[in-house]
Amino acid sequence: MAGAELRNRYRPADLGVFTRDEASRFVPRGDGDPRDDVVLAWELLYRLEPELYDRLASAERLHPGILGWLPCGVDRIAEVGAGTGRLTMELPGHGQHVVAVEPALPLRRILRRKLTAAGHGDRVRVIRGFFDRLPLPGDFADLVVACSAFTSSPAHGGEDGLAEMERVCRPGGCVAIIWPNHLGWLAARGYRHVSFPGPMSVDFASHDEAVELAAIFYPAAVCEVRRRGRQRVPFEVLGINPPRDLAFRVLPG
Ligand SMILES: C[S@@+](CC[C@H](N)C(=O)[O-])C[C@H]1O[C@@H](n2cnc3c(N)ncnc32)[C@H](O)[C@@H]1O
Repeated sequence: MAGAELRNRYRPADLGVFTRDEASRFVPRGDGDPRDDVVLAWELLYRLEPELYDRLASAERLHPGILGWLPCGVDRIAEVGAGTGRLTMELPGHGQHVVAVEPALPLRRILRRKLTAAGHGDRVRVIRGFFDRLPLPGDFADLVVACSAFTSSPAHGGEDGLAEMERVCRPGGCVAIIWPNHLGWLAARGYRHVSFPGPMSVDFASHDEAVELAAIFYPAAVCEVRRRGRQRVPFEVLGINPPRDLAFRVLPG
């Protein structure tokens, strides 16, 4: 089963970290075992070891074509599932006002810290919320975006989450799902696909960091990462799909 190292970091007792709203989405039957469920293990990572998650996300940078593709000079942008800001940190360059929605408190704290350090504290509002119930008014944003966060599963978006992103987007605005993992599902709902070509690598902070993070997140690749002796590791070595894709829909004006 995928992600054994990550799954085995956590235990069922760790599920107590979830708030009631989080538990109702991530463990709707009231129980679960992260050792059998890598999606649950990721949710625990965000809450129990948020700095570890941030080290990984900071190394896995988006293809520059994605940032070049996003509209510039818009008034309002809403991002859902902002995490520690892999995309959020770039959004002040695209819109006047940014709202970053993120359910996990430890990730919101890191994101606020990074935004303040970068001088974006006034331009980006970080708030708590979930895909299926966005705390934003209808027609709020010119661009509504999610990066490595939306899936077709109800706990991480699904039909209700997509409908919410579209509700929050103004007529003629754009909803964009970056690094999507259910392209067929999105295509069936009118989303077009864009992919940016070229080699892509994960830029770890050092070779030691590459080995340490690969051992946790990409254990099948750790020997090769060690053998290469580099801090930069091609995505194909890690066996994951690089962040070069997006799916989008422009809403009728
Ligand atoms: C893989 S992380 C990506 C974070 C960030 N967008 C990035 O690219 O680094 C997935 C994010 O989705 C958030 N998330 C999970 N379930 C969610 C939900 N139901 N509604 C909104 N965000 C959710 C997680 O808390 C986490 O921040």
